[in-house]
Amino acid sequence: MIRSLVRAGALLALAGSLAMPMAAQAQAYPTKPISLVVPFAAGGPTDVVARTLAAAMTRLLGQSVVVENTTGAGGTIAANRVAKAAPDGYTVLIHHNGMATAVGLYRKLAYNPQEDFEFVGQVADVPMTLLGRKTLPPNNLGELITYLRANRDKVTLANAGLGAVSHLCGMLFQKAIGVDLVTVPYKGTAPAMTDLLGGQVDVLCDQTTQTLPQIAAGTVKLYGVTAPSRIASLPNAPTLAESGLKDFQVVVWHGVYLPKGTPRPVIDRLNGALQAALKDPEVRRKLTELGAEIVPTEKQTPEALRGWLKAEIDRWTPIIRAAGAYAD
Ligand code: MLT
Repeated sequence: MIRSLVRAGALLALAGSLAMPMAAQAQAYPTKPISLVVPFAAGGPTDVVARTLAAAMTRLLGQSVVVENTTGAGGTIAANRVAKAAPDGYTVLIHHNGMATAVGLYRKLAYNPQEDFEFVGQVADVPMTLLGRKTLPPNNLGELITYLRANRDKVTLANAGLGAVSHLCGMLFQKAIGVDLVTVPYKGTAPAMTDLLGGQVDVLCDQTTQTLPQIAAGTVKLYGVTAPSRIASLPNAPTLAESGLKDFQVVVWHGVYLPKGTPRPVIDRLNGALQAALKDPEVRRKLTELGAEIVPTEKQTPEALRGWLKAEIDRWTPIIRAAGAYAD
């Protein structure tokens, strides 16, 4: 009895001595570079948002925030990597709607988006644009739909893999017009855009954070935007809904996550840096110029992101399952 009490006391003392340095480490955070994991290819829309944030957060945290692109499986490889990383604040995930849609799409998801992460906050909302290669014959959405119905076996629709928003948008578009196209998956919409510009694929639904410069340069054909109403950066472009696809809407939202068990002071420090970065005039200018809308402060919190993710999982899982659109 006395021996087990002594052993328990020794264990408690050991736990205390381990906990102290951990708490101290959390208070001193960050003391070395931080990896910001992006689930898609470099140069694409998620990467643009991540690199804009990383530059500002590097200044604010006094340590480098280094973007790492971990691509594949519609973003699930990156999310799994961060879910299994050490919960010390040095491996951070930025992800979009794919964090929610993966639950319906992947029956064997290796992580639980709601249970295996700590939440830092929401970042920005980005509309999408429906594009064709420059030489695609149709000139507006009505003509495009007629063309796709007549050429369904020939037209290729690019996306960034099952779980990407380009996949989600493409899936909803095909459903809305009652046509199944030949889909071509990439590891991000950056390589998909390269092939759209080269004429190797025909159609791509992609975010304004990547597409606005191409639309302005006239190197692609624009058929409409997926926002609920016209957007300031493309005032002359009709929404898909106003062009006849009633209720068609896809808005891309972004969240920042940490592995489950990350100490609260670390989450708070990162959240402070995220909120400060989103007030930075240079970050606001750059994101706004690319059609992104920084979310209001009340959404830039761990609690808001947790609630939003749950609502999005509850919204999309039954829709995806009813469509039988599984990725595995
Ligand atoms: C990307 O960064 O490549 C995109 O966010 C991919 C997508 O979800 O369509």
